[in-house]
Amino acid sequence: MNVHVTKGSIQKSKADTIIVNLFKDAAESAKKNKPSGAVGAMDKALDGAISELIANGDLTGKAGEVGVLYPRGAIDAKRVLVAGMGERDGFNIENVRQTAAAAIQRAKELNAKNVATIVHGAGNAGLPVAAAAQATIEGTLLALYEYEKEEGEGIESITIVEIDKDKIKKIEKGVEVGTAVSAGTTLARNLVNMPPNIATPKRMAKAATKIAEEYNMGLIVGGRKWAAKHNMGAFLSVALGAGFPPKFIVLEHNGDNKDLPTLVLIGKGVTFDTGGISLKPKQNMGLMKSDMGGAAAVLGAMKTVGMLNLPLRVIGITPCTENMPDAHAYRPSDVITASNGKTIEIISTDAEGRMALADALVYAQKYEPDAVVDLATLTGAAVVALGAGRAAGIFSTSDELRDKLQAAGQSAHERLWPLPLWDEYLQSLQSDVADMKNSGDRMGGVGTSAIFLKQFVEFDNWAHLDIAGMAFAPKQQGYLSQGGTGFGVRLLVEFLQNWSK
Ligand code: BES
Ligand code: MN
Ligand code: ZN
Repeated sequence: MNVHVTKGSIQKSKADTIIVNLFKDAAESAKKNKPSGAVGAMDKALDGAISELIANGDLTGKAGEVGVLYPRGAIDAKRVLVAGMGERDGFNIENVRQTAAAAIQRAKELNAKNVATIVHGAGNAGLPVAAAAQATIEGTLLALYEYEKEEGEGIESITIVEIDKDKIKKIEKGVEVGTAVSAGTTLARNLVNMPPNIATPKRMAKAATKIAEEYNMGLIVGGRKWAAKHNMGAFLSVALGAGFPPKFIVLEHNGDNKDLPTLVLIGKGVTFDTGGISLKPKQNMGLMKSDMGGAAAVLGAMKTVGMLNLPLRVIGITPCTENMPDAHAYRPSDVITASNGKTIEIISTDAEGRMALADALVYAQKYEPDAVVDLATLTGAAVVALGAGRAAGIFSTSDELRDKLQAAGQSAHERLWPLPLWDEYLQSLQSDVADMKNSGDRMGGVGTSAIFLKQFVEFDNWAHLDIAGMAFAPKQQGYLSQGGTGFGVRLLVEFLQNWSK
């Protein structure tokens, strides 16, 4: 896919398909006066065809509406799509993504090849130009995502056309970021969508290796021996029953530059979660191929960090292993020692994510981080609390860090909602034989999982995002494709970019 920015009048574009937009109030007033802006210029070029449709009530500007017009030689384009944007009042960056997504999906259905569009919401809703351009590209590219898309099929190019030369630079910047964020999200979606016999820890390491090579990052791919040398008994306990060998993966962007702010991102990389000896029920077990959604988000974010070459020291850590029942598998009642020397009594082998994360959190300390954020499809309880596809739970030792992440999640529309990290939850994990149990009773399962993780945190600023219910979408909606969502990439990149500002 080629993405360009050009200065000019949208109605003069050489693209086969042109996208303009229409607010509801603009449609309303167009019944009396001719429409203004890009849609006005287009209407004029089409000899009033758009205002005619509005007058007849065929075009209303409501959100999600996409009208199709055929210029029949009046301009070069084969077709013009008029995307409804709904109410101008409260129109936000997420509405920009949705508008772009609805329009491009229609263009794709009509077999468009080369599409020209304006930036939605920058001129007519007063949104910041760069952010609106970024969102236009994100909505467009993410809506066109397909797992294993054939080369040379579908839309070939997107051109953003802008008449005001003073906006071009900002649009170019927004397009650069939007393209990089979409590439990172696409990588995360692909990894989640791969069957679990393909997206093995080795395959995750291959994705990390490619990033390291392309963007000149430091890379560690630690196998069983490496992890044993680092005393990672907790991570390795999950891997005991694994057929595919585990990989503890570390990517370092500006790894040697300790003068830069240091942010560590950790992602749970359970490539398939059967529950282990505490076997899960067979219904929908296949969905547990998405249990590496946190790791996929971290690798996706690292790719974007590399593309944008962010002026930060960013470390991505993804402990990857499958969780299988096997003769060698860890069992309930085992006592495991993690890399910080703390002992864990296994209650459920299905509480494996926190075991893998425990050693990753301990490992993060060696970077003396300014902040550590982990993402994990950790508990069904988080989904029960917040709903599938609604929000990820956020736990943090720092209100400031939590606020920053929540703000980033708001603008990315990958929303986070705070849950409590009270020490009382630790009471459910009291063990007679070890420092803690790996799981409590059924109640408050999301709180006990977070307080468990906190036992391995030695830095000040830590946030844990429980993204169970967010990594995988059962059905397509707008720019979120069915299957892997890439949840976390956009929010992490936004968070990192704000940090370096
Ligand atoms: N990977 C699951 C959590 C999960 C559930 C992710 C639904 C996505 C959708 C995790 O490893 C798990 O099994 N958690 C257990 C914890 C329990 C054993 C303490 C759970 O939530 O039931
Ligand atoms: Mn599990
Ligand atoms: Zn799991």
